[in-house]
Amino acid sequence: TAHGVEFSQQLSETPKSAEERAAVLANPGFGDYFTDHTAVVDYKVDADGNGGWQNARIEPYGPISLDPSAAVLHYGQEIFEGLKAYRHADGSVWTFRPEANAARLNKSARRLALPELPEEYFLGAIRELVQADKEWVPSGDGEALYLRPFMIATEAFLGVRAAREVSFRVIASPAGNYFGGELKPVSIWISREYARAGRGGTGAAKCGGNYAASLIAQQEAEANGCKQVLFLDHFNDDAVEELGGMNVFFVMKDGSLVTPALSGTILEGVTRMSVIQVAKDMGREVTERKITLDEWRDGVASGEITEVFACGTAAVITPIGVLKDATEFIGSEDAKAGETTMAIREQLLGIQTGTVEDTHGWLTRL
Ligand code: COI
Repeated sequence: TAHGVEFSQQLSETPKSAEERAAVLANPGFGDYFTDHTAVVDYKVDADGNGGWQNARIEPYGPISLDPSAAVLHYGQEIFEGLKAYRHADGSVWTFRPEANAARLNKSARRLALPELPEEYFLGAIRELVQADKEWVPSGDGEALYLRPFMIATEAFLGVRAAREVSFRVIASPAGNYFGGELKPVSIWISREYARAGRGGTGAAKCGGNYAASLIAQQEAEANGCKQVLFLDHFNDDAVEELGGMNVFFVMKDGSLVTPALSGTILEGVTRMSVIQVAKDMGREVTERKITLDEWRDGVASGEITEVFACGTAAVITPIGVLKDATEFIGSEDAKAGETTMAIREQLLGIQTGTVEDTHGWLTRL
């Protein structure tokens, strides 16, 4: 095969009917529906201590059988990725910077003491799964097939050490707007009590534990009518880190962009990195630096900051209208999506969906 890894194929005998699939694709939402297949590759360490990836396969989507003592269920030895497959106007299907996700998966793997996955397995799993489930790739505005690669420690063993049996999987889910409905500015809740990550921790890794730790803060946000939570570095002048599941950008009065610098506690978003490049291509200056909550508040008040937006694979680019907590209210409830935010969104989505030239070679045909 093109990517050099053979995936055995066990296709589903009970795929969803064309009608069921059409009903899902008419209104995919986010994360509720899954395609007919999954890609799997297993990893084992043998008696001589040599680890290897094996049994690459496509199989029907369905429950996973795990020993109740599997390490992932106890110690959370797990990492994941997120990327998308886009349908172009001619019907062809493409993915965006999968090599970047493969590289980040391996960075996360090193931090979580999981085995690295050779890139050809990652790319092969994506390609084979999308080939099997191509009909599931939506074509509506801002829609795509969300791909969720993940790696779990499957070894049945309760000692606290890196597992010797691991599984890498990819599932796929048709996706529209992460926040549901039409795109509009979202409100953000300031997490005063909870932090997302600390120095030396797992903040830069894409591991389930980071998101588990964010849920209580996300609940607090939702209880206060907000869509996402903002995490700050409480030990560093309340420097802005990121939202529960996305990075943050500021548009300044002079047209330049600012985003928090990668500090080791921030997720190194592929969309973040792509927004930086796209904005530069559009002639804008982009600065990665420390930006504090005080600067956000003062900047909005003085007009120094004109727009704020969130970005991520799931979120694409979503304008932020309001930032608040029990005592603060920054922004405006009836804020409109900013012009620069939308221009960058159109440019990035245009590259991904084939209507804007891909000058960086970011697209891979599936
Ligand atoms: C993504 O944007 O792909 C994410 O992983 C964020 C969230 C859905 C966990």
